[in-house]
Amino acid sequence: MEIKPLLFSEEEIRNILSSITEEEIEEGKRISLSSLEDLVFVRGEPGGAVVYDIDGRPYIDMTAQAWTLNVGYSHPDVVYAAALQAKVLNHVRYGFPTIPRLKLMKKLKEIFGFERVALNTQGGGWSLETAMKLAMVNKPGAELFMVSWRGYHGNSLVMTAASHPLPVLIRFKPFGLERFVRFPYPYCYRCPFHRKYPECGAGLCLEFVEKTIRYCTWGNIAGIIIEPIQGPGGHVPAPREFLKGLREIADKYGIYLIFDEAQTAFGRVGAWSASQLYGVKPDMMTLTKGLGGGFPVGAVLAREGIKGLSYPEEHTTFGGNPVPYAAALINIMVIEKLGLVERARELGEYATKRLRDMMERIELIGDVRGPGLYIGVDLVKDRETKEPATEEAEEVVGRALEKGVIFALDMPDIYGEEFTMRNVVKLKPPLVIKKEELDKALDVLEESLIEVSREYGYSYSKA
Ligand SMILES: Cc1ncc(COP(=O)(O)O)c(C=O)c1O
Repeated sequence: MEIKPLLFSEEEIRNILSSITEEEIEEGKRISLSSLEDLVFVRGEPGGAVVYDIDGRPYIDMTAQAWTLNVGYSHPDVVYAAALQAKVLNHVRYGFPTIPRLKLMKKLKEIFGFERVALNTQGGGWSLETAMKLAMVNKPGAELFMVSWRGYHGNSLVMTAASHPLPVLIRFKPFGLERFVRFPYPYCYRCPFHRKYPECGAGLCLEFVEKTIRYCTWGNIAGIIIEPIQGPGGHVPAPREFLKGLREIADKYGIYLIFDEAQTAFGRVGAWSASQLYGVKPDMMTLTKGLGGGFPVGAVLAREGIKGLSYPEEHTTFGGNPVPYAAALINIMVIEKLGLVERARELGEYATKRLRDMMERIELIGDVRGPGLYIGVDLVKDRETKEPATEEAEEVVGRALEKGVIFALDMPDIYGEEFTMRNVVKLKPPLVIKKEELDKALDVLEESLIEVSREYGYSYSKA
């Protein structure tokens, strides 16, 4: 494929996009209304897990950039698909079907086994708002949604209300907060009901949901929105019994069950989705992140019988843009061709085993939670009280960055010890990560944990 600029030379455009002075960086940061990190990344290893900063320093990326680049940075096939599509037709208005859009819907239907697909969004929160509209249109009169403690669903004003009401977000007085009814997420490591799983069978968690529906609402719940494995809120896998029970409750009361699979799909958990892993099928499922291979795209999948929205109810300017759809379609084919679902399962088991071994020796690690390459390492000050080791976790992640590995933490801790946030180190690298890179990242994590343990006075021993 040949692409030639018309008004500028190739060199001019390349120079504009790839070189910058220190002064320009400083100025850009001053102008920016958004809070920006120090590092300026300039390129990623094509189809790999390594990213380079402006000084040419490589980093192993254990975050896949907000858990998105399952096929690695700038995967050549994905980039080719996007460039080709951009070359021939880079935009159409929302209602027009295009070849990538039609084929992507078919692909999503086949992989996830849902009969209907809505492709009109560029992200996760937005997809959830579409799912909410679908639930309301299909259940006229229903106006409430149930959401979980510590859930995170996006940053629009409505999704802020749907998410756990972190005080940092609450200062916006989220729009529509009164539309959301909350229930405790079954966080077994720190059980909200002080029970023990699996003995409890998630019974109290389910009872709470059902009683809330019966006693605190009046048949006006449109949907239950839940992350099957809670991501930003602490990396918490729900017990299978809970999701199965939720399915039964949703059926019993005629409520749409909506899984937010922004983080958990496209191989990340060692299956195409968490729903498939758990064997629990929601009525609707929302997707983004790993869907686009680095391009902004979101989707809602829905079961047969759910009727769609009308044009004015769902129209968006870029909702029909074929470039991310072309990228997403080829991205899924790359995942299939490279066997990344199985790879995530295998590498995930390997990494989890190594982390559990570290946990035997390093007191600071309270828990290791998978599945697949979707791992959270919960750092605690005390294994009995499980008090979150937030400062220590920040320190560990900072040191690892200095050693060339990027890890990330969960959402900020606001409520202190009761709501444990920002003490869970996340390991969610591109699924294409090489075994040696994964080993290096785990070595760096261990070194950093040991350094911090030594300084903060926690016991540890080396392997
Ligand atoms: C579980 C979950 N749901 C929804 C979202 C929101 O996605 P977006 O930022 O694309 O709106 C995120 C983003 O981090 C997420 O992790």
